Amino acid sequence: MLAGMTSPRATDPEPGPAVTVRGLQKSFKHVSVLRGVDLDVARGSVFALLGSNGAGKTTMVRILATLLKADGGTARVNGFDVATQAAEVRESISLTGQFAAVDEILSGRENLVLVARLRHLGKPGAIADALLRRFSLTEAAGRRVATYSGGMRRRLDIAMSLIGEPPVVFLDEPTTGLDPQARVEVWQAVRELARGGTTVLLTTQYLEEAEQLADRIAILHQGRIIVDGTLAELKQLLPPAKVEYVEKQPTLEEVFFAVVGSDGK
Ligand SMILES: Nc1ncnc2c1ncn2[C@@H]1O[C@H](COP(=O)(O)OP(=O)(O)OP(=O)(O)O)[C@@H](O)[C@H]1O
Ligand SMILES: [Mg+2]
Repeated sequence: MLAGMTSPRATDPEPGPAVTVRGLQKSFKHVSVLRGVDLDVARGSVFALLGSNGAGKTTMVRILATLLKADGGTARVNGFDVATQAAEVRESISLTGQFAAVDEILSGRENLVLVARLRHLGKPGAIADALLRRFSLTEAAGRRVATYSGGMRRRLDIAMSLIGEPPVVFLDEPTTGLDPQARVEVWQAVRELARGGTTVLLTTQYLEEAEQLADRIAILHQGRIIVDGTLAELKQLLPPAKVEYVEKQPTLEEVFFAVVGSDGK
């Protein structure tokens, strides 16, 4: 090897999008949940997958995280095939589900140190302190997680998922069940991730969340992506309504119901 060259790590970014999905299919018994899903998530972007209850968002994320096998189609994460290179995919990602996976008895800092140790990283204390600062948890660092608010727990959960610096982070409904203040705190944490260059794929039922966070939004409905674009592109699907000579731009909510149907079916 030439001097100065370092050997590539298994999780070094491959060229191309962070996530590429083509013709993805998944059925449970007789229920066809994903019926040919196509999407691309650009590196370093925040991508929101929107859909009603039961649309298949969690199914999609579980396939991308190699927790579930697809019936057909292909999916690549960080350049690796989820079916044939599952180990490399797992090294490239973290997945944060709806319920925070933090230990209540330990303090926030202890949780972070524990995960850093489990991942055999050097200087776990320094890693924990940096993440506590980044997610505004320094003051609460020494307190048991049992005393944290829902928003603080979710922020700690997101901080824990960043240990080891995965290039791609999946957040499945990161703010479901949180009050508005906690939701804003989690949004700040997600923005913080994006600023650091991490690719974020999040699922949400909250249209406002997608409006606030996402560079690109896709709507999953009846097994397919029926709309995929930037917020500005989605808004162009509906003409602006003229109200007393003032142009009213459609909200994402209006676009959503126009394409999905107002009864959500
Ligand atoms: N392991 C399973 N066995 C049988 N059916 C399943 C399984 N997992 C999911 N489903 C079904 O697949 C459909 C999609 O579920 P999924 O959890 O992916 O939806 P979702 O979009 O995440 O919904 P929500 O917004 O409620 O979280 C639902 O009809 C669900 O009942
Ligand atoms: Mg779900």
